[in-house]
Amino acid sequence: MEKIFQKFLFIFIFTKFISAYEITPFPQDFLFGVATASYQIEGAWNINGKGENIWDYYSHYSPSMIKDGSTGDVACDSYNKFKDDVQIIKDLGVHIYRFSLSWSRILPTGFANEINHDGIRYYNDLINELIANDIIPVVTIFHWDLPLPLMAIGGWTNPLMTKYYMEYANITFHYFGDRVQHWLTMNEPMSFCTDTFENAQQPFNVPQIKGIGIYLCAHTVLRTHALVYKMYKNEYQEKQKGKIGIAIDSRWYEPKTNKTEDIEAATRALEFDCGMYFNPIVYGDFPEIMKTRIENLSRSENFSISRLPEFTKDDKELLQGSYDFIGLNHYSTWLVSDGSSKTNWRTPSYARDVGGIMEADPKWPNSTMSWLYDVPWGFYKLLTHIRDRYKNPIIVITENGFAQLEIQDKKRIHYLKGYLKSLSKATQDGCNVKGYITWSVMDNFEWFEGFTQRFGLYYVNFTDPSRPRIPRSSAKWFKKFVHTHLKNNNKFLVVQV
Ligand code: NOJ
Repeated sequence: MEKIFQKFLFIFIFTKFISAYEITPFPQDFLFGVATASYQIEGAWNINGKGENIWDYYSHYSPSMIKDGSTGDVACDSYNKFKDDVQIIKDLGVHIYRFSLSWSRILPTGFANEINHDGIRYYNDLINELIANDIIPVVTIFHWDLPLPLMAIGGWTNPLMTKYYMEYANITFHYFGDRVQHWLTMNEPMSFCTDTFENAQQPFNVPQIKGIGIYLCAHTVLRTHALVYKMYKNEYQEKQKGKIGIAIDSRWYEPKTNKTEDIEAATRALEFDCGMYFNPIVYGDFPEIMKTRIENLSRSENFSISRLPEFTKDDKELLQGSYDFIGLNHYSTWLVSDGSSKTNWRTPSYARDVGGIMEADPKWPNSTMSWLYDVPWGFYKLLTHIRDRYKNPIIVITENGFAQLEIQDKKRIHYLKGYLKSLSKATQDGCNVKGYITWSVMDNFEWFEGFTQRFGLYYVNFTDPSRPRIPRSSAKWFKKFVHTHLKNNNKFLVVQV
């Protein structure tokens, strides 16, 4: 009798152990996908009527700013190889392909007075091919490749951008909205506003005034997003039955110690990142902590008004609730300690406004990217923070991934396993996440890093003119993961990782 009891006890403990460490359940209707973006994969930079965008210009005229001096002129050649891409996506067995539209392929100058019909044809062909292969297109309308003339007028610091972007978005809904039902207005505004207007990384004649341009950009981007959301709701949604959101990027910020100053610094860092975009679209305004801090610092710097622009009453009404779902791009975590008295922050800057010192724990597994570490618990904390702070919105993870060159990419698999487990736990704990899209289906042009950084499930050989796509170990692993998920259609789908 005692033996039988012991046996039962053993099986019970063993099953608990397995379910805690090996099994990753997801809700039944959960979707998986892979992502890319136009400039990073398409190539064909000057083919069939496409206009010049800032990355064409930048990579041609300031090659020294790109690590390997490369360009996206050919990239993965997806303009020509898109059917092959659809096949590798299909082979992975995922539900979703998230890609972006090249603004200057559709409107060569950025303005709506001239439409390039080859651009419309190209995206129609891609969308049709996806649908024919049972893959859901999730379309990002703007993923950083701004038409060059629009940067000449100050890019997103110029409020006129709202009008130009609305005209562009309207054209995309008109031509593609009969088949595209998942839209993202912008990709990672936090990143592109910072890179363009705060970090002075770009050779454009734009207001790169620290502590100012980044907020002007955020202000215009947010108003634009809200107006486009309204336009889609009023003019297209009933007919086209689609959903529209925005892809917001955020890290998790963990206090380095349990000292009050460090805890406060980590809270500030999160509010100045996640909060800068989540707060306006959920509640209609920038977070209080941002408003007060920038106002106070601005006064002490002798500005007569805050460096942070204000939203009008109408803006606030428009912004509040301007999403059907929110895309979340998340990769990594920082440890934060208080830096509010750092001496080299005497002049205005975003870093001074945040007042935190960011670092990684040396114990965290690193990628080849200086900012990207494998910290799955940070993902869980960010998801539950969003659940609690922002009314548990419908979330789709629109990007998450790891940089590693090798074909046998064990570190990427380790990262994906950990982050998917965190995500699974978050969904079981009530986070309203409906899908997970990994970055990226294949290696591509990684902006200032050129081709030196590899995020693909598929390895791409950029020295071979045919740009072969070769599955990494992670492609095989992810395929199995998704397949196991599809096979199970219980209330909770059980996935072995
Ligand atoms: C964010 C961006 O959306 C994407 O374009 C980039 O390649 C990945 N993260 C990796 O850095």
